[in-house]
Amino acid sequence: MENNDHKIDEILSARNGHLYIEECDTTKLVKNFGSPLFVVSEQQLRENVKRFSSAFSQFWPDGPVDILPANKANWNTAVRTILSEEGAGADIYSEGELHSALQCNVDPNLISVNGGGKSDQMLKKCIESDVRITVEDLDEPERINQIAKSLNKVAKIRFRVKPDFPNLWKRTDFSLESASIDIGIQVYKSGIPAQYLETLGKQVLKMKHIELTGLHFHGGRHSNSLWYWKGMMKRYAQLVTHLCDAWGGYRPKELDIGGGFASERDPHSKLGERENTIMTFFTYPLELAMYGLTATGRYKVLSSMIEKVMVKMPGTQKAPSIEEYAETAVSTFRNTLLKGGLNLDGIRLQVEPGRGFYGNTGIHLTKVKKFKQQTKPMKMNWVLTDTTYFYLSGGIYEYNFHDFRIANNVNGTPKHVADIVGHSCYADRISPLVKVPDMKEGDIVAYLDMGAYQEVSASNFNALPRPAMLLVNGSKAEVIKRAETIEDVFSRDIIPERLQRKSQKATTTEEDAVAEASKEIENA
Ligand SMILES: Cc1ncc(COP(=O)(O)O)c(C=O)c1O
Repeated sequence: MENNDHKIDEILSARNGHLYIEECDTTKLVKNFGSPLFVVSEQQLRENVKRFSSAFSQFWPDGPVDILPANKANWNTAVRTILSEEGAGADIYSEGELHSALQCNVDPNLISVNGGGKSDQMLKKCIESDVRITVEDLDEPERINQIAKSLNKVAKIRFRVKPDFPNLWKRTDFSLESASIDIGIQVYKSGIPAQYLETLGKQVLKMKHIELTGLHFHGGRHSNSLWYWKGMMKRYAQLVTHLCDAWGGYRPKELDIGGGFASERDPHSKLGERENTIMTFFTYPLELAMYGLTATGRYKVLSSMIEKVMVKMPGTQKAPSIEEYAETAVSTFRNTLLKGGLNLDGIRLQVEPGRGFYGNTGIHLTKVKKFKQQTKPMKMNWVLTDTTYFYLSGGIYEYNFHDFRIANNVNGTPKHVADIVGHSCYADRISPLVKVPDMKEGDIVAYLDMGAYQEVSASNFNALPRPAMLLVNGSKAEVIKRAETIEDVFSRDIIPERLQRKSQKATTTEEDAVAEASKEIENA
Protein backbone atom coordinates (compact mmCIF):
# COMPACT_ATOMS: atom_id res chain seq x y z
CA MET A 1 0.00 0.00 0.00
CA GLU A 2 1.33 3.45 -0.98
CA ASN A 3 1.22 6.34 1.50
CA ASN A 4 -1.13 8.18 -0.75
CA ASP A 5 -3.70 5.40 -0.92
CA HIS A 6 -7.07 6.67 0.26
CA LYS A 7 -10.80 6.10 0.08
CA ILE A 8 -12.78 8.61 -1.98
CA ASP A 9 -16.24 7.28 -1.10
CA GLU A 10 -17.96 3.93 -0.53
CA ILE A 11 -16.86 2.46 -3.87
CA LEU A 12 -14.04 4.67 -5.16
CA SER A 13 -10.49 4.59 -3.87
CA ALA A 14 -6.97 5.56 -4.87
CA ARG A 15 -4.54 2.63 -4.80
CA ASN A 16 -0.96 2.71 -6.04
CA GLY A 17 -1.72 5.91 -7.95
CA HIS A 18 -4.69 4.37 -9.76
CA LEU A 19 -8.40 4.97 -9.35
CA TYR A 20 -10.34 1.89 -8.29
CA ILE A 21 -14.07 1.31 -8.49
CA GLU A 22 -14.94 -1.42 -6.00
CA GLU A 23 -12.02 -3.87 -6.53
CA CYS A 24 -11.42 -2.94 -10.19
CA ASP A 25 -8.50 -0.85 -11.39
CA THR A 26 -10.18 1.62 -13.78
CA THR A 27 -7.09 1.74 -16.05
CA LYS A 28 -7.45 -2.02 -16.55
CA LEU A 29 -11.14 -1.59 -17.36
CA VAL A 30 -10.17 0.75 -20.21
CA LYS A 31 -7.39 -1.59 -21.31
CA ASN A 32 -9.74 -4.57 -21.41
CA PHE A 33 -12.98 -3.00 -22.58
CA GLY A 34 -11.89 0.09 -24.55
CA SER A 35 -12.64 3.76 -24.15
CA PRO A 36 -14.82 5.68 -23.47
CA LEU A 37 -16.84 3.66 -20.97
CA PHE A 38 -19.70 4.10 -18.54
CA VAL A 39 -19.10 2.00 -15.42
CA VAL A 40 -21.76 1.18 -12.82
CA SER A 41 -21.17 -0.24 -9.36
CA GLU A 42 -23.46 -3.05 -8.23
CA GLN A 43 -22.46 -2.50 -4.61
CA GLN A 44 -23.45 1.18 -4.70
CA LEU A 45 -26.78 0.40 -6.39
CA ARG A 46 -27.68 -2.11 -3.69
CA GLU A 47 -26.42 0.13 -0.88
CA ASN A 48 -28.39 3.11 -2.14
CA VAL A 49 -31.70 1.23 -1.92
CA LYS A 50 -30.90 0.33 1.70
CA ARG A 51 -29.60 3.79 2.57
CA PHE A 52 -32.59 5.69 1.13
CA SER A 53 -34.99 3.25 2.67
CA SER A 54 -33.51 3.50 6.15
CA ALA A 55 -33.05 7.32 5.97
CA PHE A 56 -36.69 7.99 5.09
CA SER A 57 -38.18 5.24 7.30
CA GLN A 58 -36.53 6.77 10.36
CA PHE A 59 -38.72 9.86 10.13
CA TRP A 60 -41.95 8.19 8.96
CA PRO A 61 -43.05 5.88 11.75
CA ASP A 62 -46.63 5.82 10.48
CA GLY A 63 -46.40 3.29 7.64
CA PRO A 64 -44.14 1.67 5.04
CA VAL A 65 -41.70 3.72 2.97
CA ASP A 66 -41.30 2.86 -0.73
CA ILE A 67 -38.24 3.89 -2.74
CA LEU A 68 -39.16 4.33 -6.42
CA PRO A 69 -35.93 5.30 -8.23
CA ALA A 70 -36.62 7.31 -11.39
CA ASN A 71 -36.11 4.90 -14.29
CA LYS A 72 -35.26 7.78 -16.65
CA ALA A 73 -31.92 8.26 -14.89
CA ASN A 74 -30.69 4.79 -15.95
CA TRP A 75 -33.06 2.24 -17.47
CA ASN A 76 -30.44 -0.37 -18.26
CA THR A 77 -31.93 -3.84 -17.86
CA ALA A 78 -29.18 -5.25 -15.63
CA VAL A 79 -29.24 -2.15 -13.42
CA ARG A 80 -33.01 -2.31 -13.10
CA THR A 81 -32.89 -6.05 -12.30
CA ILE A 82 -30.53 -5.37 -9.38
CA LEU A 83 -32.85 -2.67 -8.01
CA SER A 84 -35.84 -5.00 -8.30
CA GLU A 85 -33.93 -7.67 -6.36
CA GLU A 86 -33.48 -5.08 -3.61
CA GLY A 87 -37.24 -4.43 -3.53
CA ALA A 88 -37.15 -0.97 -5.13
CA GLY A 89 -40.10 0.34 -7.13
CA ALA A 90 -39.88 2.67 -10.12
CA ASP A 91 -40.99 6.09 -11.23
CA ILE A 92 -41.57 5.70 -14.95
CA TYR A 93 -42.59 8.11 -17.69
CA SER A 94 -42.93 6.48 -21.10
CA GLU A 95 -44.09 3.19 -22.61
CA GLY A 96 -40.44 2.23 -22.95
CA GLU A 97 -39.81 2.79 -19.25
CA LEU A 98 -42.99 0.88 -18.37
CA HIS A 99 -41.72 -1.99 -20.51
CA SER A 100 -38.39 -1.86 -18.65
CA ALA A 101 -40.06 -1.90 -15.23
CA LEU A 102 -42.40 -4.79 -16.04
CA GLN A 103 -39.72 -6.79 -17.82
CA CYS A 104 -37.44 -6.41 -14.80
CA ASN A 105 -40.08 -7.61 -12.31
CA VAL A 106 -40.80 -4.35 -10.49
CA ASP A 107 -43.81 -4.91 -8.20
CA PRO A 108 -46.73 -3.18 -10.05
CA ASN A 109 -47.84 -1.71 -6.70
CA LEU A 110 -44.52 0.13 -6.61
CA ILE A 111 -44.67 1.63 -10.09
CA SER A 112 -45.64 5.27 -10.48
CA VAL A 113 -46.56 6.10 -14.09
CA ASN A 114 -45.93 9.79 -14.53
CA GLY A 115 -46.34 12.12 -17.48
CA GLY A 116 -48.97 14.18 -19.26
CA GLY A 117 -50.71 13.27 -22.52
CA LYS A 118 -50.70 9.50 -21.97
CA SER A 119 -52.11 7.52 -24.89
CA ASP A 120 -55.09 5.17 -24.52
CA GLN A 121 -52.73 2.33 -25.36
CA MET A 122 -50.43 3.32 -22.47
CA LEU A 123 -53.35 3.66 -20.04
CA LYS A 124 -54.71 0.26 -21.08
CA LYS A 125 -51.33 -1.35 -20.51
CA CYS A 126 -51.09 0.28 -17.06
CA ILE A 127 -54.55 -0.89 -16.03
CA GLU A 128 -53.98 -4.42 -17.34
CA SER A 129 -50.70 -4.58 -15.40
CA ASP A 130 -52.24 -3.11 -12.20
CA VAL A 131 -49.67 -0.32 -11.94
CA ARG A 132 -50.37 3.08 -10.32
CA ILE A 133 -51.24 5.84 -12.76
CA THR A 134 -50.10 9.25 -11.62
CA VAL A 135 -52.66 11.53 -13.26
CA GLU A 136 -51.50 14.81 -14.78
CA ASP A 137 -54.32 15.83 -17.13
CA LEU A 138 -57.87 16.90 -16.30
CA ASP A 139 -59.43 14.53 -18.85
CA GLU A 140 -57.29 11.55 -17.79
CA PRO A 141 -59.53 10.19 -14.96
CA GLU A 142 -62.59 9.92 -17.21
CA ARG A 143 -60.54 8.18 -19.91
CA ILE A 144 -59.06 5.81 -17.31
CA ASN A 145 -62.52 5.10 -15.90
CA GLN A 146 -63.83 4.14 -19.36
CA ILE A 147 -60.83 1.94 -20.21
CA ALA A 148 -60.98 0.25 -16.78
CA LYS A 149 -64.72 -0.36 -17.26
CA SER A 150 -64.07 -2.01 -20.64
CA LEU A 151 -61.50 -4.26 -18.96
CA ASN A 152 -63.80 -4.89 -15.98
CA LYS A 153 -61.11 -3.58 -13.61
CA VAL A 154 -60.60 -0.87 -11.00
CA ALA A 155 -57.64 1.37 -11.89
CA LYS A 156 -55.42 2.73 -9.15
CA ILE A 157 -54.64 6.40 -9.64
CA ARG A 158 -53.25 9.33 -7.76
CA PHE A 159 -53.12 13.02 -8.65
CA ARG A 160 -49.83 14.72 -9.39
CA VAL A 161 -50.59 18.05 -7.75
CA LYS A 162 -49.08 21.45 -8.37
CA PRO A 163 -49.32 23.63 -5.26
CA ASP A 164 -48.34 27.32 -5.23
CA PHE A 165 -45.05 28.20 -3.54
CA PRO A 166 -45.01 31.94 -2.77
CA ASN A 167 -42.60 31.07 0.09
CA LEU A 168 -39.85 29.82 -2.29
CA TRP A 169 -38.38 33.16 -3.29
CA LYS A 170 -34.73 32.08 -3.71
CA ARG A 171 -33.25 31.56 -7.19
CA THR A 172 -33.85 28.31 -9.05
CA ASP A 173 -30.77 26.43 -10.29
CA PHE A 174 -32.70 25.17 -13.32
CA SER A 175 -32.37 28.36 -15.30
CA LEU A 176 -29.47 30.59 -16.21
CA GLU A 177 -31.87 33.51 -16.14
CA SER A 178 -32.66 34.83 -12.70
CA ALA A 179 -36.01 33.41 -11.64
CA SER A 180 -37.33 32.28 -8.26
CA ILE A 181 -38.10 28.63 -7.49
CA ASP A 182 -41.75 29.69 -7.14
CA ILE A 183 -41.82 30.86 -10.77
CA GLY A 184 -39.66 27.90 -11.86
CA ILE A 185 -42.28 25.46 -10.53
CA GLN A 186 -45.16 27.39 -12.13
CA VAL A 187 -43.45 27.50 -15.53
CA TYR A 188 -42.87 23.73 -15.52
CA LYS A 189 -45.67 21.94 -17.38
CA SER A 190 -46.24 18.98 -15.06
CA GLY A 191 -48.88 18.56 -12.36
CA ILE A 192 -52.56 19.43 -12.01
CA PRO A 193 -52.89 23.09 -11.03
CA ALA A 194 -54.34 23.44 -7.51
CA GLN A 195 -57.32 25.44 -8.85
CA TYR A 196 -58.89 22.29 -10.41
CA LEU A 197 -58.22 19.74 -7.70
CA GLU A 198 -61.24 20.18 -5.42
CA THR A 199 -63.73 19.60 -8.24
CA LEU A 200 -61.70 16.89 -9.95
CA GLY A 201 -61.32 14.95 -6.68
CA LYS A 202 -65.06 15.02 -5.98
CA GLN A 203 -65.76 13.71 -9.49
CA VAL A 204 -63.15 10.97 -9.29
CA LEU A 205 -64.32 9.73 -5.89
CA LYS A 206 -67.66 8.91 -7.54
CA MET A 207 -66.15 6.96 -10.46
CA LYS A 208 -66.79 3.22 -10.19
CA HIS A 209 -63.71 1.97 -11.97
CA ILE A 210 -61.16 4.16 -10.22
CA GLU A 211 -59.57 4.03 -6.79
CA LEU A 212 -57.88 7.30 -5.79
CA THR A 213 -55.00 5.89 -3.77
CA GLY A 214 -53.31 9.16 -2.85
CA LEU A 215 -51.45 12.24 -3.95
CA HIS A 216 -48.12 12.90 -5.62
CA PHE A 217 -45.89 15.91 -5.96
CA HIS A 218 -42.47 16.26 -7.58
CA GLY A 219 -40.77 19.64 -7.45
CA GLY A 220 -37.36 18.63 -8.81
CA ARG A 221 -33.92 19.88 -7.93
CA HIS A 222 -34.38 23.64 -8.03
CA SER A 223 -31.88 24.00 -5.20
CA ASN A 224 -29.83 21.62 -3.08
CA SER A 225 -30.68 23.44 0.15
CA LEU A 226 -32.62 22.11 3.12
CA TRP A 227 -34.44 25.48 3.16
CA TYR A 228 -35.99 24.53 -0.20
CA TRP A 229 -37.17 21.16 1.07
CA LYS A 230 -38.65 22.67 4.20
CA GLY A 231 -40.63 25.30 2.26
CA MET A 232 -41.71 22.84 -0.42
CA MET A 233 -42.94 20.10 1.95
CA LYS A 234 -44.83 22.62 4.10
CA ARG A 235 -46.90 23.96 1.18
CA TYR A 236 -47.45 20.45 -0.28
CA ALA A 237 -48.69 19.11 3.07
CA GLN A 238 -51.01 22.10 3.48
CA LEU A 239 -52.54 21.34 0.07
CA VAL A 240 -52.93 17.65 1.01
CA THR A 241 -54.87 18.40 4.21
CA HIS A 242 -56.93 21.07 2.47
CA LEU A 243 -57.97 18.60 -0.24
CA CYS A 244 -58.73 15.82 2.27
CA ASP A 245 -61.15 18.21 4.00
CA ALA A 246 -62.62 19.46 0.72
CA TRP A 247 -63.25 15.87 -0.39
CA GLY A 248 -65.31 15.15 2.73
CA GLY A 249 -62.68 13.57 5.00
CA TYR A 250 -60.78 11.64 2.34
CA ARG A 251 -57.81 9.62 3.63
CA PRO A 252 -54.99 8.78 1.19
CA LYS A 253 -53.37 5.35 1.29
CA GLU A 254 -50.12 6.77 -0.02
CA LEU A 255 -48.34 10.11 -0.34
CA ASP A 256 -45.49 10.58 -2.78
CA ILE A 257 -42.98 13.40 -2.28
CA GLY A 258 -41.14 12.90 -5.62
CA GLY A 259 -37.41 13.31 -6.15
CA GLY A 260 -35.02 16.23 -6.49
CA PHE A 261 -32.40 15.35 -3.86
CA ALA A 262 -28.87 16.29 -4.86
CA SER A 263 -26.06 13.77 -4.85
CA GLU A 264 -23.39 14.70 -2.33
CA ARG A 265 -20.73 15.96 -4.79
CA ASP A 266 -23.61 17.65 -6.60
CA PRO A 267 -22.41 18.54 -10.10
CA HIS A 268 -25.69 20.26 -10.98
CA SER A 269 -25.66 23.85 -12.20
CA LYS A 270 -22.10 24.51 -11.08
CA LEU A 271 -21.02 25.62 -14.54
CA GLY A 272 -23.93 28.00 -14.95
CA GLU A 273 -23.25 29.58 -11.59
CA ARG A 274 -19.62 30.21 -12.49
CA GLU A 275 -20.40 31.52 -15.95
CA ASN A 276 -23.08 33.78 -14.58
CA THR A 277 -21.06 35.53 -11.99
CA ILE A 278 -17.60 35.68 -13.47
CA MET A 279 -18.22 35.50 -17.20
CA THR A 280 -21.23 37.77 -17.36
CA PHE A 281 -20.52 40.33 -14.72
CA PHE A 282 -16.77 40.50 -14.78
CA THR A 283 -14.88 39.05 -17.73
CA TYR A 284 -16.68 40.54 -20.68
CA PRO A 285 -17.01 44.11 -19.31
CA LEU A 286 -13.32 43.96 -18.37
CA GLU A 287 -12.42 42.71 -21.81
CA LEU A 288 -14.36 45.57 -23.38
CA ALA A 289 -12.67 48.07 -21.09
CA MET A 290 -9.29 46.72 -22.20
CA TYR A 291 -9.90 47.42 -25.89
CA GLY A 292 -7.95 50.64 -25.31
CA LEU A 293 -4.84 48.53 -24.55
CA THR A 294 -2.56 46.89 -27.09
CA ALA A 295 -3.67 43.39 -28.14
CA THR A 296 -0.58 41.95 -26.41
CA GLY A 297 -1.46 43.73 -23.16
CA ARG A 298 -5.05 42.55 -23.33
CA TYR A 299 -4.13 38.89 -23.92
CA LYS A 300 -1.60 39.06 -21.09
CA VAL A 301 -4.24 40.26 -18.61
CA LEU A 302 -6.71 37.62 -19.85
CA SER A 303 -4.12 34.82 -19.57
CA SER A 304 -3.37 35.85 -16.03
CA MET A 305 -7.10 36.02 -15.20
CA ILE A 306 -7.52 32.48 -16.46
CA GLU A 307 -4.73 31.29 -14.15
CA LYS A 308 -5.78 33.29 -11.11
CA VAL A 309 -9.48 34.11 -11.18
CA MET A 310 -11.31 31.84 -13.56
CA VAL A 311 -9.79 28.48 -12.65
CA LYS A 312 -12.19 26.48 -10.53
CA MET A 313 -12.19 22.87 -9.39
CA PRO A 314 -15.43 20.86 -9.24
CA GLY A 315 -16.63 18.91 -6.24
CA THR A 316 -15.55 21.43 -3.64
CA GLN A 317 -19.02 22.28 -2.28
CA LYS A 318 -20.91 19.38 -0.77
CA ALA A 319 -24.69 19.06 -0.74
CA PRO A 320 -26.50 17.74 2.35
CA SER A 321 -26.49 13.98 2.85
CA ILE A 322 -29.58 11.92 2.05
CA GLU A 323 -30.12 11.47 5.80
CA GLU A 324 -30.23 15.26 6.23
CA TYR A 325 -32.66 15.63 3.32
CA ALA A 326 -34.84 12.85 4.73
CA GLU A 327 -34.96 14.44 8.17
CA THR A 328 -35.90 17.91 6.90
CA ALA A 329 -38.30 16.81 4.16
CA VAL A 330 -40.15 14.12 6.08
CA SER A 331 -40.30 15.90 9.44
CA THR A 332 -41.68 19.06 7.84
CA PHE A 333 -44.16 17.08 5.74
CA ARG A 334 -45.30 14.93 8.63
CA ASN A 335 -45.64 17.74 11.17
CA THR A 336 -47.65 19.88 8.75
CA LEU A 337 -49.95 16.96 7.89
CA LEU A 338 -50.53 16.25 11.59
CA LYS A 339 -51.15 19.94 12.26
CA GLY A 340 -53.74 19.89 9.46
CA GLY A 341 -55.54 17.08 11.29
CA LEU A 342 -54.72 14.11 9.01
CA ASN A 343 -54.52 10.70 10.66
CA LEU A 344 -51.32 9.23 9.22
CA ASP A 345 -51.73 5.74 10.60
CA GLY A 346 -50.75 3.17 7.96
CA ILE A 347 -50.18 5.72 5.16
CA ARG A 348 -47.31 4.76 2.84
CA LEU A 349 -44.67 7.36 2.08
CA GLN A 350 -43.14 7.20 -1.39
CA VAL A 351 -39.94 8.80 -2.65
CA GLU A 352 -38.77 9.00 -6.30
CA PRO A 353 -35.08 9.90 -6.29
CA GLY A 354 -33.25 10.20 -9.62
CA ARG A 355 -29.90 12.01 -9.51
CA GLY A 356 -29.55 11.65 -5.71
CA PHE A 357 -29.98 7.89 -6.06
CA TYR A 358 -28.10 6.99 -9.26
CA GLY A 359 -25.47 9.77 -9.36
CA ASN A 360 -22.76 8.10 -7.30
CA THR A 361 -23.41 4.63 -8.77
CA GLY A 362 -21.50 5.38 -11.97
CA ILE A 363 -18.36 6.89 -13.46
CA HIS A 364 -17.31 7.72 -17.01
CA LEU A 365 -13.83 6.81 -18.23
CA THR A 366 -12.19 8.50 -21.20
CA LYS A 367 -8.73 8.26 -22.72
CA VAL A 368 -6.63 11.33 -23.46
CA LYS A 369 -5.82 11.71 -27.17
CA LYS A 370 -3.62 14.79 -26.92
CA PHE A 371 -2.42 17.44 -24.51
CA LYS A 372 -2.50 20.53 -26.69
CA GLN A 373 -1.00 23.88 -25.72
CA GLN A 374 -0.63 27.42 -27.00
CA THR A 375 1.17 30.31 -25.39
CA LYS A 376 0.37 33.06 -27.91
CA PRO A 377 -1.52 35.26 -28.30
CA MET A 378 -3.13 33.92 -25.15
CA LYS A 379 -2.17 30.99 -22.97
CA MET A 380 -4.50 27.99 -23.37
CA ASN A 381 -4.16 24.26 -22.66
CA TRP A 382 -6.51 21.49 -23.79
CA VAL A 383 -6.81 17.90 -22.62
CA LEU A 384 -8.42 16.38 -25.70
CA THR A 385 -10.27 13.20 -24.78
CA ASP A 386 -12.00 10.50 -26.78
CA THR A 387 -15.40 11.22 -25.23
CA THR A 388 -17.73 14.11 -25.96
CA TYR A 389 -20.34 16.06 -24.10
CA PHE A 390 -22.79 14.62 -26.61
CA TYR A 391 -22.42 11.39 -24.62
CA LEU A 392 -23.11 13.40 -21.47
CA SER A 393 -25.97 15.55 -22.66
CA GLY A 394 -28.13 14.99 -19.55
CA GLY A 395 -25.52 16.93 -17.63
CA ILE A 396 -24.85 19.52 -20.30
CA TYR A 397 -28.52 20.62 -20.27
CA GLU A 398 -28.19 21.25 -16.56
CA TYR A 399 -24.77 22.98 -16.60
CA ASN A 400 -23.16 20.11 -14.70
CA PHE A 401 -19.57 20.46 -13.54
CA HIS A 402 -18.40 16.97 -12.62
CA ASP A 403 -15.65 16.09 -10.21
CA PHE A 404 -12.91 14.05 -11.90
CA ARG A 405 -9.67 12.18 -11.25
CA ILE A 406 -6.80 11.26 -13.54
CA ALA A 407 -7.34 7.51 -13.24
CA ASN A 408 -3.72 6.50 -13.90
CA ASN A 409 -2.27 9.34 -11.79
CA VAL A 410 -4.75 10.05 -8.99
CA ASN A 411 -2.18 11.68 -6.78
CA GLY A 412 -0.59 13.82 -9.51
CA THR A 413 0.13 17.41 -8.52
CA PRO A 414 -2.11 19.87 -10.39
CA LYS A 415 0.14 22.06 -12.57
CA HIS A 416 -1.69 23.32 -15.64
CA VAL A 417 -4.92 25.21 -16.09
CA ALA A 418 -6.64 23.45 -18.98
CA ASP A 419 -9.97 22.79 -20.62
CA ILE A 420 -10.80 19.07 -20.60
CA VAL A 421 -12.59 18.78 -23.92
CA GLY A 422 -14.42 16.19 -25.95
CA HIS A 423 -13.54 15.29 -29.51
CA SER A 424 -16.69 16.44 -31.33
CA CYS A 425 -16.32 19.46 -33.60
CA TYR A 426 -18.04 21.67 -31.00
CA ALA A 427 -15.99 23.50 -28.36
CA ASP A 428 -17.05 20.51 -26.23
CA ARG A 429 -15.73 22.00 -22.98
CA ILE A 430 -16.61 19.27 -20.49
CA SER A 431 -14.48 20.82 -17.75
CA PRO A 432 -13.53 24.41 -18.58
CA LEU A 433 -10.43 25.87 -16.92
CA VAL A 434 -9.61 23.21 -14.36
CA LYS A 435 -6.24 22.29 -12.88
CA VAL A 436 -4.59 19.11 -14.13
CA PRO A 437 -1.19 17.49 -13.58
CA ASP A 438 1.23 16.95 -16.50
CA MET A 439 -0.89 15.17 -19.09
CA LYS A 440 -0.02 12.92 -22.00
CA GLU A 441 -1.62 10.76 -24.65
CA GLY A 442 -3.08 7.59 -23.13
CA ASP A 443 -3.85 9.10 -19.70
CA ILE A 444 -7.36 8.36 -18.46
CA VAL A 445 -9.79 10.90 -17.09
CA ALA A 446 -12.45 9.48 -14.77
CA TYR A 447 -15.58 11.57 -14.34
CA LEU A 448 -17.43 10.92 -11.08
CA ASP A 449 -21.18 10.93 -10.38
CA MET A 450 -22.04 9.90 -13.90
CA GLY A 451 -24.69 7.35 -12.91
CA ALA A 452 -27.73 9.57 -13.51
CA TYR A 453 -29.12 10.92 -16.79
CA GLN A 454 -25.83 10.81 -18.75
CA GLU A 455 -25.60 7.49 -20.58
CA VAL A 456 -29.34 7.53 -21.24
CA SER A 457 -29.12 10.87 -23.04
CA ALA A 458 -26.03 10.13 -25.16
CA SER A 459 -26.41 11.04 -28.84
CA ASN A 460 -24.52 10.27 -32.05
CA PHE A 461 -23.41 13.76 -33.10
CA ASN A 462 -20.51 13.62 -35.60
CA ALA A 463 -21.62 10.03 -36.33
CA LEU A 464 -19.83 8.93 -33.15
CA PRO A 465 -20.87 5.48 -31.87
CA ARG A 466 -22.02 5.55 -28.24
CA PRO A 467 -19.91 3.88 -25.51
CA ALA A 468 -20.46 0.61 -23.69
CA MET A 469 -21.68 0.28 -20.11
CA LEU A 470 -19.98 -2.05 -17.63
CA LEU A 471 -21.20 -3.42 -14.34
CA VAL A 472 -18.60 -4.01 -11.66
CA ASN A 473 -19.12 -6.25 -8.68
CA GLY A 474 -16.03 -6.63 -6.51
CA SER A 475 -13.23 -7.51 -8.92
CA LYS A 476 -15.60 -8.68 -11.65
CA ALA A 477 -16.52 -6.48 -14.64
CA GLU A 478 -19.22 -7.38 -17.16
CA VAL A 479 -20.57 -5.58 -20.21
CA ILE A 480 -24.23 -4.68 -19.61
CA LYS A 481 -24.62 -2.60 -22.78
CA ARG A 482 -22.34 -3.17 -25.72
CA ALA A 483 -20.62 -0.27 -27.44
CA GLU A 484 -22.18 0.87 -30.66
CA THR A 485 -20.42 0.24 -33.96
CA ILE A 486 -20.28 2.59 -36.93
CA GLU A 487 -22.75 0.23 -38.62
CA ASP A 488 -25.15 0.75 -35.67
CA VAL A 489 -24.98 4.50 -36.19
CA PHE A 490 -26.26 4.10 -39.75
CA SER A 491 -28.49 1.09 -39.09
CA ARG A 492 -31.78 3.05 -39.15
CA ASP A 493 -31.01 4.89 -42.40
CA ILE A 494 -33.09 3.93 -45.40
CA ILE A 495 -32.26 4.79 -49.01
CA PRO A 496 -35.52 5.25 -50.94
CA GLU A 497 -35.75 2.89 -53.87
CA ARG A 498 -35.69 5.69 -56.47
CA LEU A 499 -32.30 6.83 -55.08
CA GLN A 500 -31.01 3.27 -55.07
CA ARG A 501 -31.93 2.99 -58.78
CA LYS A 502 -30.22 6.29 -59.46
CA SER A 503 -27.08 5.24 -57.66
CA GLN A 504 -27.15 1.87 -59.48
CA LYS A 505 -27.61 3.75 -62.76
CA ALA A 506 -24.71 6.00 -61.86
CA THR A 507 -22.60 2.95 -61.16
CA THR A 508 -23.68 1.33 -64.41
CA THR A 509 -22.84 4.50 -66.33
CA GLU A 510 -19.46 4.67 -64.59
CA GLU A 511 -18.84 0.99 -65.35
CA ASP A 512 -19.83 1.57 -68.99
CA ALA A 513 -17.42 4.51 -69.18
CA VAL A 514 -14.60 2.40 -67.73
CA ALA A 515 -15.38 -0.43 -70.17
CA GLU A 516 -15.47 2.08 -73.03
CA ALA A 517 -12.13 3.55 -71.96
CA SER A 518 -10.47 0.11 -71.72
CA LYS A 519 -11.75 -0.67 -75.20
CA GLU A 520 -10.12 2.51 -76.47
CA ILE A 521 -6.85 1.60 -74.74
CA GLU A 522 -6.98 -1.90 -76.25
CA ASN A 523 -7.64 -0.49 -79.72
CA ALA A 524 -4.82 2.05 -79.47
C1 LIG B 1 -42.01 12.58 -11.57
C2 LIG B 1 -40.56 12.55 -11.31
N1 LIG B 1 -40.11 11.92 -10.22
C3 LIG B 1 -38.77 11.86 -9.95
C4 LIG B 1 -37.84 12.46 -10.76
C5 LIG B 1 -36.37 12.40 -10.39
O1 LIG B 1 -35.87 13.68 -10.15
P1 LIG B 1 -34.39 13.88 -9.61
O2 LIG B 1 -33.46 13.28 -10.56
O3 LIG B 1 -34.22 15.36 -9.54
O4 LIG B 1 -34.32 13.25 -8.26
C6 LIG B 1 -38.28 13.14 -11.90
C7 LIG B 1 -37.31 13.80 -12.79
O5 LIG B 1 -37.57 14.46 -13.74
C8 LIG B 1 -39.67 13.19 -12.19
O6 LIG B 1 -40.14 13.83 -13.27
